[in-house]
Amino acid sequence: MAIESFKLAVKEIEKRRQNALFEANNRNDEVCAKIYRIKELNILLSQTGLQLSRVIFSQGKNAKAAIDRIMAENLKNQKELEVLLTLNNYPKDYLDIQYFCKKCEDSGYVNGRKCECLKQQVTKYNVLEFNSANKIDTSSFDTFSLKYYSDMRVENAKSCKETMSEIFSFCKQYAAMFNKNSPSVLMLGDTGLGKTHLSLAIARTVMQNGFSALYSSAPDLFRRLQNEYYGKGEQGVDTMETVLKADLVIIDDLGAEMENQFNISTLYNLINMRLNANKPIIISTNLTLKQIENRYTDRVASRIMTLYKCLKFVGKDVRQIKLKNNEL
Ligand SMILES: Nc1ncnc2c1ncn2[C@@H]1O[C@H](COP(=O)(O)OP(=O)(O)OP(=O)(O)O)[C@@H](O)[C@H]1O
Ligand SMILES: [Mg+2]
Ligand SMILES: [Zn+2]
Repeated sequence: MAIESFKLAVKEIEKRRQNALFEANNRNDEVCAKIYRIKELNILLSQTGLQLSRVIFSQGKNAKAAIDRIMAENLKNQKELEVLLTLNNYPKDYLDIQYFCKKCEDSGYVNGRKCECLKQQVTKYNVLEFNSANKIDTSSFDTFSLKYYSDMRVENAKSCKETMSEIFSFCKQYAAMFNKNSPSVLMLGDTGLGKTHLSLAIARTVMQNGFSALYSSAPDLFRRLQNEYYGKGEQGVDTMETVLKADLVIIDDLGAEMENQFNISTLYNLINMRLNANKPIIISTNLTLKQIENRYTDRVASRIMTLYKCLKFVGKDVRQIKLKNNEL
């Protein structure tokens, strides 16, 4: 796990906690300004802990009677508070702190173990870190349009719009139904056809559904892996482990990384290890299947061709179209 992601995640949880406290405080001020007795009760209730420790300290084993009295008094005050709130049309728990995560009360930990909410935030930042230069926020299914693809048919073949409409539906379905047994996907096609856009949209939905998704361009990913392999990585960061653990891994722009033996065998290992663990990868590339075979050997190509769902993107460069229309 990247240290930076962990720090950011803890910060965010702490912010939630501060926020919950702040809002409870505001509600308290509001109610106290209206109902003076509640202010008194608050003061009495806040003294309970101190009173308890005092009698325990001064009376030791003989404190039981005094403790019972203090607890009874506390309960009575709490009841009175609830009655007053109800009489004044407030919910009974109006003054309670409303934590974002009830399980850990926004501390990030339950019984000394990381709470799900903290893990989720870490995953989010892991992805964002890999992806900081990218546009995960603007690349969603909602901002994907089929209007950029021509509906012209040549003879009996499907139009670009029809093909892309099928791909779009497949991706939406894939993201919505994503689970640990989802298939791997290969997105093929020329530049600017929406491969990155749709793979980020998938990552986004998959994360919203509580899975971890890791997105990286191939050049970035292989550079990190190579640096770490030679001991030049960031301290505490183990990219290979993150890649193997994530529920979904997206490798964008395969083929744009340096062409060397390290990258070729790393890709093979990565594909193999994820297959063995039965975990999906989404790969997108400008290379053709033939080029994949030539570059990464047929050991890689045969796995991809037989086990991956292939999506062939078609059409005219949407980047250029948007540029012309001033839409970028
Ligand atoms: N169908 C679409 N609707 C809206 N925007 C699109 C669509 N397709 C692509 N875009 C936008 O056009 C730009 C290029 O798309 P994208 O980066 O997804 O292409 P790509 O297939 O990944 O290209 P490359 O092979 O060069 O990486 C992006 O800004 C993207 O948001
Ligand atoms: Mg791309
Ligand atoms: Zn929690």
